[in-house]
Amino acid sequence: MNNDIQKNKLQILGNLFASLTHEIRNPLSVLKMNIDLIRDYQKDENEDIGDLLETSSEAILRIEKIIAHTLDFLRDNPDSYEYCSVNDIVSNSLDFIIPKAKKEGINIYTFLSSDIPKIKVVKNQIEQVLINLLTNSLEASEKGKIIQVRTNFDSENKKVNITITDDGIGIKNEHKDIVLNQFFTTKEGGNGLGLHVCKEIIDKHKGNLTFESEFEKGTTFCVSFSNYKV
Ligand SMILES: Nc1ncnc2c1ncn2[C@@H]1O[C@H](COP(=O)(O)OP(=O)(O)O)[C@@H](O)[C@H]1O
Ligand SMILES: [Mg+2]
Repeated sequence: MNNDIQKNKLQILGNLFASLTHEIRNPLSVLKMNIDLIRDYQKDENEDIGDLLETSSEAILRIEKIIAHTLDFLRDNPDSYEYCSVNDIVSNSLDFIIPKAKKEGINIYTFLSSDIPKIKVVKNQIEQVLINLLTNSLEASEKGKIIQVRTNFDSENKKVNITITDDGIGIKNEHKDIVLNQFFTTKEGGNGLGLHVCKEIIDKHKGNLTFESEFEKGTTFCVSFSNYKV
C-alpha cells in the first residue's frame, strides 16, 4: 500500500477515534451508574452476582481510563507523563492477561529486578503496549507453552528494559521487516494494528521497540527506555 494512503488512513482513524470516544463516554457512564445501582440493590441477595457486577463496573472504569488516556495521547498532553515504577506497570498489565493465560493453559513467569530507576512515561500507554505484546505472545502459543517477562536496568547502556519472551510459533524471516507495519497480520480476524500502535507509543516516549525471533521456536520483544530518574 502507498505510504501516503496509509498515513491518511491512520489520520482518519485518529479523528474517527477522537469523535467516537467522545460519543461513547456518555452511554458508558450511564451503564456504570446503573451497574453500581443494581449492585447496591442486590448486594445482600447473591454474592456471585455481586462479584460479577463488581468486575463489570471495574471493566467500565478501565475503558474510561483507556479513553481518557488515548485522548491525551492524541493531543499529546505533556502533563500525562510521570515517573513510574516499571515493575508496577508490568504487574498491572499482567493482572489483565493472567486470567486469559490460565484459561488457555499457558504459564507466565516473571523475573522483575528490584533495582530499577523510575521511568518517565504515560503509564496507561505503556500498560497498553505490554498488553498488546503479551496478547500477541498468547496468540502465538499453544497450551503448555511458557511466556517469560523480565525487567532490568542496564546501567552500562543507560537503559531500563522490559522483555517478553515466548516459545510460540515465531516470526518467519520474510516477515521480519514488515511485522511492525500497520495492517500487517498473519491472523484470521487480525487487524495488524497492535504492533504499529506499540511502535508509535514507544517512539513518542523516545524509547526503543526491538525483537528477535526464530520461526517455530519463539520470539522476544524488548521495550527500552532511557528517560529515567535514579
Ligand atoms: N509473539 C509473536 N509471535 C509470533 N508472531 C508474532 C508475535 N507478535 C507479533 N507477531 C506477528 O506480527 C503480526 C502483527 O501483529 P499485530 O500488529 O499485533 O497484529 P495482529 O495481532 O492483529 O495480527 C501478527 O499477525 C504475527 O504474524
Ligand atoms: Mg496483536
